[in-house]
Amino acid sequence: MISLRIFAKMMKERTEDIYILGIESSCDDTSAAVLQGTTMLSNVIAGQKVHEAYGGVVPELASRAHQQNIVPVIDKALKDANVVKENLSAIAFTRGPGLLGSLLVGVSFAKTFSLGLDIPLIEIDHLQAHVLAHFIQDEQWRHDPPKFPFLCLTVSGGHTQIVLVKDYFDQQIVGKTIDDAAGEAFDKTAKILGLPYPGGPVIDKLAQQGNPNAFSFPKPNISDFDYSFSGLKTSILYFLRDRLKENPNFIEQNREDLCASIQKTIVDILLKKFEKAILQYDVRDIALAGGVSANGALRTAFSELGEKRALNAHLLPFKYTTDNATMIAVSGFFKYQKGDLSEQSAKPYSRSSER
Ligand code: KG4
Ligand code: ZN
Repeated sequence: MISLRIFAKMMKERTEDIYILGIESSCDDTSAAVLQGTTMLSNVIAGQKVHEAYGGVVPELASRAHQQNIVPVIDKALKDANVVKENLSAIAFTRGPGLLGSLLVGVSFAKTFSLGLDIPLIEIDHLQAHVLAHFIQDEQWRHDPPKFPFLCLTVSGGHTQIVLVKDYFDQQIVGKTIDDAAGEAFDKTAKILGLPYPGGPVIDKLAQQGNPNAFSFPKPNISDFDYSFSGLKTSILYFLRDRLKENPNFIEQNREDLCASIQKTIVDILLKKFEKAILQYDVRDIALAGGVSANGALRTAFSELGEKRALNAHLLPFKYTTDNATMIAVSGFFKYQKGDLSEQSAKPYSRSSER
């Protein structure tokens, strides 16, 4: 229950007096950010190198690393922002979806901190926050955010969604992957090619020196606005198995061309469906979000699609593409303004369906 003292404070607060602390711990990045209104004052992210040796995120190790990182990360976020904890208006945290052990660390910390400071607690859905990253402002990025309704292509390590965004928290998923996410398609094929984890940024870099038309891979035929990426991984496996029989050095000799061709296939699959959605829904703005939206080829093709269809195409600065707490804090700001606050009983959820 929101106390009268908090309610009275919220009623008379001006936007520039609202300071939100955001906490993100859904996967393998511990992040904290402080916002004044929608303006980012600090954005601290501690990655976890420990997973590299295993070629993917190990949930138990992620949870332990979050426990080690969370206090120093929040401390640094407050210091970088030059804000004392007593000046915070509310604490926004990622409730899900994500790894339960990882989420628990952020959720428990947020609850304790809000109780200690006697300020509101605000739960945030990680995927809605990826979309709302487009409403962050910062000194290097003063911009006009997308106008409602807009279509957002959210592409991350765990999710691939086409979202019709009618309002901040009125986000309708019109298409999604039925198996692997786009980020998994990058990471799993990178693993097949013997590249380190996470493979997405490595493929992006190597692809810059390769020919995107060197090899072609079949594209899935899925109904409506849904995606499928598991078939691509299988066809790459069979393709390489046959080539390696003829030439054991095939991967080393064609690494850049393979990366460029695989990347082009993933980008083509993503944008073909997204263009179909553009034709169906009446929007003037389109947006790209999530970790894979850092991909150079995808960004270029997305902007070109905007030009082709005469739409405003919105891209995020790189620091707001992958997991970050600023997107959690900005989502928290919009919920705070609505008075949409959470209870201490809020539990993390691993899947969106458990929300
Ligand atoms: O949004 P995110 O940080 O975490 C999740 O919520 O999943 O996304 C991480 C994903 C990983 O699969 C990573 O390989 C991919 O984003 N990624 C990229 C690039 N940078 C990160 N994929 C392709 N090209 C990139 N430059
Ligand atoms: Zn994410």
